[in-house]
Amino acid sequence: MSSIIDIKFELESNKLDSIKADATIVIVKNKDLSHKWVTQEDELKVQGFEGSAEELCQIGNNIYVGVPCFDSDEIRLALCNALKKIKKSSYKTISIGSYSSKRELNISAIVEGAILGSYKFDKYFTKKSSINVEKIIISTEDYSDNKIDETKANEEIKFSFAVANATNMAKTIVNSTPNDVTPQRLAQLAKELTIDVPNTNCFIGDNEYLESENMNLFLAVNRASCHPAKLVHLSYTPKNPKKVITLVGKGLTYDSGGLNIKTGSYMSTMKADKGGACAVLGIFKAITELKLDVELHAVIGATENMVGGDAYKADDVIIARNKDSVEIQNTDAEGRLVLADCLSWAQDKIKSDYILDFATLTGACVVGLGEYTTGIMGNNSKLKHQIGANNSGELSSMLPFNKYLKKTLKSPVADICNISSSRYGGAITAGLFLDNFITDEYKDKWVHLDIAGPAFVERDWGYNQTGASGAGVRLVSYWINKLIKD
Ligand code: BES
Ligand code: ZN
Ligand code: ZN
Repeated sequence: MSSIIDIKFELESNKLDSIKADATIVIVKNKDLSHKWVTQEDELKVQGFEGSAEELCQIGNNIYVGVPCFDSDEIRLALCNALKKIKKSSYKTISIGSYSSKRELNISAIVEGAILGSYKFDKYFTKKSSINVEKIIISTEDYSDNKIDETKANEEIKFSFAVANATNMAKTIVNSTPNDVTPQRLAQLAKELTIDVPNTNCFIGDNEYLESENMNLFLAVNRASCHPAKLVHLSYTPKNPKKVITLVGKGLTYDSGGLNIKTGSYMSTMKADKGGACAVLGIFKAITELKLDVELHAVIGATENMVGGDAYKADDVIIARNKDSVEIQNTDAEGRLVLADCLSWAQDKIKSDYILDFATLTGACVVGLGEYTTGIMGNNSKLKHQIGANNSGELSSMLPFNKYLKKTLKSPVADICNISSSRYGGAITAGLFLDNFITDEYKDKWVHLDIAGPAFVERDWGYNQTGASGAGVRLVSYWINKLIKD
């Protein structure tokens, strides 16, 4: 896929000023122009550069970028902005120092800022953009004279290179249009992640398979689409895995709303309703490339939600794979139906230590948390906090379940209704609908991530471009890496 940013990163144990490169990026912390790396203080002052947050100035071959502090996300943004500035130049090699803080080594942030920030979705343009930078050399000389652990720094380069490129791959699939990435194409893209990759396997189930598994909720959502549904299962089974993790992704390659059709502007951007599936694919790509000691399963429910003479309807009652009857009251609440059957399948087929699902599930999550933040739900507080609390740069927040909201899913004609009787708390009630399909064995092993906000944002934000951000890939790759290395 064209989304790979081909920049090499090298750690060098020489002082910054003795590294040979075409240009140097200097990050200026909180207006401190007296630092030894700021060699052109007078010229910078003439240019009006003070070194405050997001300020940028180029003097000769030095690019100065201001940050308020050395938090990892500030470093990511600084790299993104510096590379934007020199993208069109002929510079091939760039040098930069180390910027550790008390909490972080921040080598990861340099790599991620460069790779994520340089991404451009140009798949459908006849003219493709390119970046001339071939190599970024990171000096182990540190801004604050901290000692840089070289082994750790090299590990961070490797990890972040894989994770950032996997995030960009997820962006490209999410950004791809519904006439390009159909369920079949999504399944094919998934399969490609296992070709010539050791210890991996790919299974693709079609409608007949879904019927044999009684996945009637999934099939109902698919019925009015001319594209058949696909259940994708990728597995990575290394020799001595420390944990078994299953990721389940909502793969709606288009969500028209079905008969409860979306109106006007609510329908466009619904190509991004496959964001959950793409997050799962991104994490799978990163973890298999890094050959981490974890058994990983990626399960995707891929379909469109369309209208037609045989479309499923509000008032239908459908028997789920787990045998619960489900009353349909809104065909636009389709993601939870696909996920309910996929979660049931994943719990029966795979013996996992953890099961995480990713979905652009509710507009309510975007209303509640804003478009930049993922909603984390589940029954295990410790696990939710572990997943949310990392320095991946992704924003997330907990949305708590409660028994009163659970009751709002009661149906007068079936075991459960696919929408809540309350107009409030829609992200949580969607999460609680999924919880209904989690067995007792898995209650504390399951976490639901509603990425409806950050999966696709219609404006630039920080080092993210307009459109897809690959939400979920970094958040959960960081969590998995920490889980098995601690
Ligand atoms: N795919 C949407 C959720 C969504 C909305 C994602 C906005 C990204 C941005 C989902 O299938 C949906 O339509 N949900 C409904 C649920 C409602 C009918 C209970 C919603 O959020 O309005
Ligand atoms: Zn919908
Ligand atoms: Zn949807």
